[in-house]
Amino acid sequence: MGRSERVAVIGAGYVGAVTAAVLAHFGHAVVLAESDLYRYAQLASGKSPIVERDLEELLQEGLASGKLRVVNSAAEAMPDAEFVFLCVPTPQGGDGSADLSAVKLVLGEIRTLLVSHAVLVMKSTVPAGTSKLVTELLERPDVSVVSNPEFLREGSAVADSLHPDRIVVGVDDESVARRVAGLFGATNAPLIVTSATTSETIKYAANAFLATKLSFINSIATLCEVAGADVRDLIVALGYDKRIGFDFLSPGPGWGGSCLPKDTAALVQIADSFGFDFAMLRAVIAQNDDHADRVVEKIRVAVGGTLAGAEVAIWGLTFKANTDDRRDSPSVDIVRRLGRQGATLRAYDPTVAPGATESDLEGVEIFSSPYDACSGAQVIAILTEWDEFRNVDFYKVGELMTARAIVDARNLLDPIALRAMGFGYSGIGRP
Ligand code: UGA
Repeated sequence: MGRSERVAVIGAGYVGAVTAAVLAHFGHAVVLAESDLYRYAQLASGKSPIVERDLEELLQEGLASGKLRVVNSAAEAMPDAEFVFLCVPTPQGGDGSADLSAVKLVLGEIRTLLVSHAVLVMKSTVPAGTSKLVTELLERPDVSVVSNPEFLREGSAVADSLHPDRIVVGVDDESVARRVAGLFGATNAPLIVTSATTSETIKYAANAFLATKLSFINSIATLCEVAGADVRDLIVALGYDKRIGFDFLSPGPGWGGSCLPKDTAALVQIADSFGFDFAMLRAVIAQNDDHADRVVEKIRVAVGGTLAGAEVAIWGLTFKANTDDRRDSPSVDIVRRLGRQGATLRAYDPTVAPGATESDLEGVEIFSSPYDACSGAQVIAILTEWDEFRNVDFYKVGELMTARAIVDARNLLDPIALRAMGFGYSGIGRP
């Protein structure tokens, strides 16, 4: 274990809460600042505000050892903090660019409170050049501003932070870079020190590449469907090529979540702002939109040709399994498209309680089990890869439905077994 440092983390979303818990686990003295009162109270009592494997245990470990403290404002976290991590959201603005207002708000709050020679670490995803802008806004020549992008995935955020593939630190001063990297010494991950602008660009490039890989495999899946090939065998063959690899090649209903859609849109906009038309990335984004239509089309065909008045059961609403996050969820997007065509929607998701009133679920009836959701339905659309859908009793399901049809947009199930039970089955890119 390296030396223990005094760290403040501002913002307790996915990135902030996990970063704070992990740094406390590494032995640093961490103060986590969350301005939302409800979220603050949850954290202070050792509750994770989000569904995230191992996070609650790690938060409780930190609170119990005294290595982690939770406060209600950025200002309270400032005294003594040698490192201040900025982990506030940078949502998509109207023109696709990242909205930096939360970043600027916090800067205003902490500008004069930062201790002399503090290091301000930008973990929020921000466009190339933001660290320079932050340096200017701070007007604190004694404070170093460092870019340190985050690559954790929701659902495995703690494991990703304990064992990252790499640590990227963007700052011109090598000694400051080493100090920041030292905080993560326990991970033994490769360190890449670069300029702040390069570091900021790395984050967008990584997410854009992942989105490209997904749009590519979803397009190949469509090609497999029309050509009569099986994308699952194709993926195995591609994956053994070390230059391609197996990861991020599962076709699905399209890619979503709080990061890939906003970061790809932002990168197109960043490129635009420099006069570069990133046409390839625009095509990647357009493919994802078209792909949702293709899934809707499969559901339309499965109910016999018209969605108006059709009873459609939706299994899974989150943007992927093992999270309760529905931001930019492909499932919610497809549900909306189905609703616009007049389908009646009956949904089940393990993280959504019946009676949920959130606006993204308007017009969708939520049930407390996959069986209740498919009762009286003509088709089941599996849109999130929750493990429990593999173990459903399909004899019972068949009895409950008015027609036996499944659109398996995550390729979770065995078509041979289902067809033997009298189900019509349609997956993604497979016979
Ligand atoms: C993504 C990146 O993977 C992280 O590295 C990054 O740190 C994070 O964004 C971020 O910028 O904060 P996350 O949003 O948690 O992480 O989601 P992913 O696991 O990347 O999944 C994104 C979407 O792609 C989901 O809708 C998922 O279902 C879909 N996906 C993923 C597939 O359809 N197939 C796959 O093989 C993998």
